[in-house]
Formats: sequence, structure tokens, C-alpha cells
Amino acid sequence: SSSSTVQSAIKNVTIIGGGLMGSGIAQVTAQAGQDVTLVDVNSDVLAKSQKSISNSLNKISKKIYKDNPQEAEKFAKEAFARIKISTDPVSAVKETDLVIEAIVENLEVKHSLFQKLDNAAPAHTIFASNTSSLSINEIASVVKRKDKFGGLHFFNPVPIMRLLEVVRGMDTTDITFCTMMDWGKSVGKTCVSCKDTPGFIVNRLLVPYIAEAIRLLERGDASARDIDIAMKLGAAYPMGPIELADYVGLDTTKFILDGWAKKYPDQALFRPIPTLNKLVSEGKLGVKSGEGFYKYEKK
Ligand code: 3HC
Repeated sequence: SSSSTVQSAIKNVTIIGGGLMGSGIAQVTAQAGQDVTLVDVNSDVLAKSQKSISNSLNKISKKIYKDNPQEAEKFAKEAFARIKISTDPVSAVKETDLVIEAIVENLEVKHSLFQKLDNAAPAHTIFASNTSSLSINEIASVVKRKDKFGGLHFFNPVPIMRLLEVVRGMDTTDITFCTMMDWGKSVGKTCVSCKDTPGFIVNRLLVPYIAEAIRLLERGDASARDIDIAMKLGAAYPMGPIELADYVGLDTTKFILDGWAKKYPDQALFRPIPTLNKLVSEGKLGVKSGEGFYKYEKK
């Protein structure tokens, strides 16, 4: 079938960025039996991601092999061993078929990375960005291989969330797009296809929804707890919007809104939210900092 030929086209994947998303993407790729190199310029970040990957793999393998602890251990161990780590993006892409970038959401930083990678990677290598709010076309503008560039947008927590948004840029060819879709399936995700529009599908709906929930709280119309209970029990969402904001990160939520507000000043849904800005300025970023709208036990 076409899918098996395309799947076999990608054997070696390089993930750039050892944060939450990059680690999760590396993990699901390794779970699917592919060789992975996880790159971060900071080796402390890599040590932390290896730890979180190992924890997550242990949980998942125990679920897959419920009645066979030996198999579970073997699965986790083998997947973990497929992930090489590196602090040098240029040497890491020398023999790779697919590069997925999951670094800071800053266009200039992404441009300088992709320019370097474009010169170092083989001609056939596909480049993808896991950006959640920047334009794929704008990111791709600096590379020569615009035909082999697209978006692969995962969701947090990557090992659990079943969706992958596959984003077509202006110059993404059919073969590149199909290879990305088939690769997504090969790592166990359900793929949806989307044009290069702000927030693609999920964040275009989710971010304004979270923003509206914070505005509702800000107006004093309901408490954070009641807003969350309402959406969990009234709309069957696994998390309410306020706890989801804390989970995604208030800095990330603010960053996405600010970027869109600048680009689309007439869109009222994207306008700044004083309560959100205040929390972020106080360093209250959500679960990761121990406090956001709610308080959390430090991990
Ligand atoms: N690795 C392995 N297992 C994990 C895990 C991980 N990273 N995270 C959670 N789990 C497991 C837990 O261990 C638990 O296992 P158990 O049932 O055997 O105990 C199971 O998943 C359920 O977790 P919890 O009991 O802690 O809590 P929940 O039942 O609430 O599930 C959740 C947690 C899966 C995160 C669920 O609440 C959920 O789906 N929330 C919504 C998440 C969401 O909307 N994500 C998208 C955010 S937007 C985004 O990512 C885009 C970006 O661009 C901004």
C-alpha cells in the first residue's frame, strides 16, 4: 500500500527542542519503533526530558502489557534506547528523514535554526514545525526546500492526546503532505489536515474559548471552580477552561493571544486580558510554576 511505502521512507527522525512537546514527540516516535535524535542546546534540559520520557514510558508500557510486566519493561527499555540525545542540531540532521522543530515560539530564532538545518540536512529530508500559533509559510520562508516543509502540531500531553494536525503550507507538495500524514498514522495519531491559518483548527477554537472563560471570571460572573465544573459536567470536557489554561501555561496562552492581537487588531476575541497579564507578570504561569488561577503542589 502507499502507506507502507511512505512509512518506510521515514526511519530516522530528529526532534529539535527538549521541552514538554519535543520530549513527547520523541517518545511517541520511539514507541513506534523509529530511531530518534532529541536535540537541545542545553544538556540540563535533555537530562530532564530523558527523565520525563522514562516516567511516561513506564506508565504507558504497563497499560499496554497489563498482564505481562516483563514485556512492559522490555517495551519501555527498547523505546527509551531508540532516543539518542544531542546538543548539536547541525550534526544531528545529517542522516535524518524528518526534522520536527519544537523550540521557542520566536520567528527569528526558528529562522536561524532552519537556515542552518537547510544547509546540513540531506535533500530528501522533510522539515516540520510544531508551532501552535506562528505561520508555517513565514517559518518556511528562509529555507530552500519550501516544497518539503509543513506543520506537525501535537497536543499536550503528547503520549496521551490522539490528535495530530498536519498543516499544509503554500508550497508544501502533495508527496510531502502525504508523507507527513502517513508518518502521523505510523506514530499512532489520528491526523487532520488544515491550511496555514492562525491556530489551525484546535487552537483557533480553544484559545478564544479559554480567553472568554477568563473574561467571564474577570467580570465576576462566576468563580473559577464553577466555570470549570460547568464545562466538565455541562459539555463533557475532560478539564474546565480555567484549569486547562493553567495546564497549557498562562505564559503560552498570553503569548498566543498577544501575537494574534497584534496581527488581527480588529478581532475582539484576541484582545489582551488584564487578569491573565497580571498573573503572568507575577510569575504565576500555571501548573509548571506551582500557581496560576489555582495553586499546585510543586513537582
Ligand atoms: N504520559 C503517560 N501517561 C500520562 C501522561 C503522560 N504524559 N499524562 C497523563 N497520563 C495518564 C495518567 O497517568 C493517568 O493514568 P491512569 O488512568 O492509569 O491513572 C491517565 O493518563 C489520566 O490522567 P489523570 O488521572 O492524571 O487525569 P485525567 O483523567 O484528567 O487525564 C488528561 C489527564 C489526559 C491530561 C486529561 O485531563 C485531558 O485530556 N485534558 C485535556 C488536555 C488538553 O486539552 N490538551 C490540549 C491542550 S492544547 C495544546 O496542547 C496545544 C498547544 O499548542 C497549546
